[in-house]
Amino acid sequence: MLDQGAPPQDPGQTAAPASPGIGARLMRRKPVERLVAEGGQGEGGSLRRTLGLWQLTMISIGATLGTGIFVVLGEAVPKAGPAVTLAFVIAGLTALFSALSYAELAGSIPVSGSSYSYAYATMGELIAWICGWCLVLEYGVSVAAVAVGWGEYLNELLDGTIGVTIPAALSAPPGDGGMFNLPALIVVLLAMAFLLGGARESARANTVMVIVKIAALVMFCAIGVQGFRSGNYENFMPLGMAGVSAAGATLFFSYIGFDAASTAGEEAKNAQRDLPRAIMLSLVVVTALYVLVAAVAVGAKPWQNFTDSEAALAQIMREVTGQTFWGTLLAFCAVIAIASVVLTVLYGQTRILFAMSRDGLVPKVFAKVHPKTGAPRANTLIVSLFCGVLAAAIPLGHLADATSIGTLFAFALVNVAVVVLRRTKPDMPRTFRVPLSPVLPALGFAFCVWMMGSLSTVTWVVFGVWMAAGLVFYFVYGFRRSRLAPSEK
Ligand code: ALA
Repeated sequence: MLDQGAPPQDPGQTAAPASPGIGARLMRRKPVERLVAEGGQGEGGSLRRTLGLWQLTMISIGATLGTGIFVVLGEAVPKAGPAVTLAFVIAGLTALFSALSYAELAGSIPVSGSSYSYAYATMGELIAWICGWCLVLEYGVSVAAVAVGWGEYLNELLDGTIGVTIPAALSAPPGDGGMFNLPALIVVLLAMAFLLGGARESARANTVMVIVKIAALVMFCAIGVQGFRSGNYENFMPLGMAGVSAAGATLFFSYIGFDAASTAGEEAKNAQRDLPRAIMLSLVVVTALYVLVAAVAVGAKPWQNFTDSEAALAQIMREVTGQTFWGTLLAFCAVIAIASVVLTVLYGQTRILFAMSRDGLVPKVFAKVHPKTGAPRANTLIVSLFCGVLAAAIPLGHLADATSIGTLFAFALVNVAVVVLRRTKPDMPRTFRVPLSPVLPALGFAFCVWMMGSLSTVTWVVFGVWMAAGLVFYFVYGFRRSRLAPSEK
């Protein structure tokens, strides 16, 4: 706790208590009770509790279902063949173990900071900061990466409808053959406009978009199944188990986002009851859809023919029906689907920074709440402009890979946090308990580490540089300004 590791006092002395050593300050933990009591409070106003189970589930599905199934599936099929279905199950299992831990912690500590706050309560400030910094990779950087994917589908849609595409100069950043990625900036600004209107309005828009994307995938299955040939499954695992696990690591990206509901802890009407349910429900829905879509896709098209990876689903629709209309319709739905990922992930990033700002680790402006909308306005503007410019001006290749490593690191910490909290607060009320703890959290941790190990050296280097930058920021800024710093105790 706050004074952990403080030097022992000489009982004979009456001097003021010595300030804690640096080790103790790095390990200072924020008590769960304080985290929960501060819930919703920002600078000059409070967030509003307007979200129910349905909207929370839609937020998690909204943040999860997008580029992974519409784009990355096409890249994974050549690695695993028909066993891409199994690869989805394996990636889903990795997500499931961590989702159980998220569900327990979100039900016990229902605040906006998600895993950052769970780490603060259990492992201390430095680890919490590291976790929060990883979440910027999971949320902030991935918004930019996903926005780039949105631009690609928009071009596909424009091509299919009016036969025009946005020229490369305006749809790719310098280094990728263009000057500026305008569509990527536009989708982020659109999401920003919704978020400035408040959480409830954004959740409503997101719900409509999620319904469209689920309908699109169901439509894909209904049409694709008409071209199903069981012969396509004859050689189920042509590239062996190694191919399946490589595809699983690629497909993990498609599960990122199921934790987004946990960033809505301070805007949920009944957070303790609904957050665990929303997290688990979204994971079940998403996994079922993924496996079904992958099974139909490989049944309708021999795996060796998955060469044009970018719009694999749209292409299958065209091939099965013999009409371009269906492919264009799917591209339209993908544009909507990916926009909802941008909206919900951007939402998550603003709420995580809100929590970090309230703790003093990032500037106070991120915790300012607009009195009319109940939205953190300045925070939303800053984060959106940052992500929009990042998406528009920087080639995101390696940075996008870093999204997965940052997410896996944060997930690994959540699996540790759940076990620590069971030990430090065994009697605390929990609306959801991970079964077989600590076995399942340990498995969750192990899966995350295993997946991190399968990522490339370049990704690790990018991650190392990112973490070093984060530590510099912490020691220059947050360490002293933390609300748990000695001067403010
Ligand atoms: N899981 C999200 C997507 O697939 C990031 O777009």
